[in-house]
Amino acid sequence: MDLIKLLNWRYATKRMTGKKISEEDLNTILEAIRLAPSAYGLQPFKVIVTENKELLDEIYEKSCPQIVVKQASHLLIFKASKKLDEEYIESYLRELKQVRKETDEYIDNYRSKIRKVIENPEINKFSWMIRQTYIALGFAVIAAAKLGIDSTPIEGFDVQAMNELLGLNTDVEEAVVLLALGYRNAEEDHLVGKPKVRKSMEKLVEKL
Ligand SMILES: Cc1cc2nc3c(=O)[nH]c(=O)nc-3n(C[C@H](O)[C@H](O)[C@H](O)COP(=O)(O)O)c2cc1C
Repeated sequence: MDLIKLLNWRYATKRMTGKKISEEDLNTILEAIRLAPSAYGLQPFKVIVTENKELLDEIYEKSCPQIVVKQASHLLIFKASKKLDEEYIESYLRELKQVRKETDEYIDNYRSKIRKVIENPEINKFSWMIRQTYIALGFAVIAAAKLGIDSTPIEGFDVQAMNELLGLNTDVEEAVVLLALGYRNAEEDHLVGKPKVRKSMEKLVEKL
């Protein structure tokens, strides 16, 4: 399907059928997340994937009472890092050096650029890391649509309850956004086939 048709086809699905998505499709969506761009390539986030009925029920009961959570094939839970320590950055730089065969000078220069952000007290680090996470969310939504899979980005959940039930160490990371994956229930979902409500191009884009 042509890209724009695809983007009109997808919508934040409110009702799913429970039908399972294949392992192969799930892996493609996860690969799209892995390939999403992030500032300096640091990928300051992780994704929990679950199709565990008990966990999904618990998430529904304690954190996210949106029915689609129980009807999804899989739920992705995006966790953003709270801080990037020295070891994290150094291990990334080692990987960068090895994979791209970069010189020490290049790596030192790159380290200084990263430090400028990490050590800048005016930059809210968690907010910076959350922003990277949302780019990956967007990639997942589009990848899913390309595979004919529906998805629902979900911010409407109790973050503290989610952190607790996943046993996250909130000094290190926090759940920030969810993505339910599955197939739309065309009979039950009142939003199926509804046109998009979006700003006009004139209101959205300023040409200079
Ligand atoms: C970050 C984010 C959080 C969202 N949270 C929810 C949510 O908690 N529940 C829900 O049903 N939809 C949620 N949505 C879906 C939006 O309401 C939806 O994308 C928007 O209304 C545009 O409609 P469309 O995606 O169907 O075209 C969220 C979307 C985004 C991008």
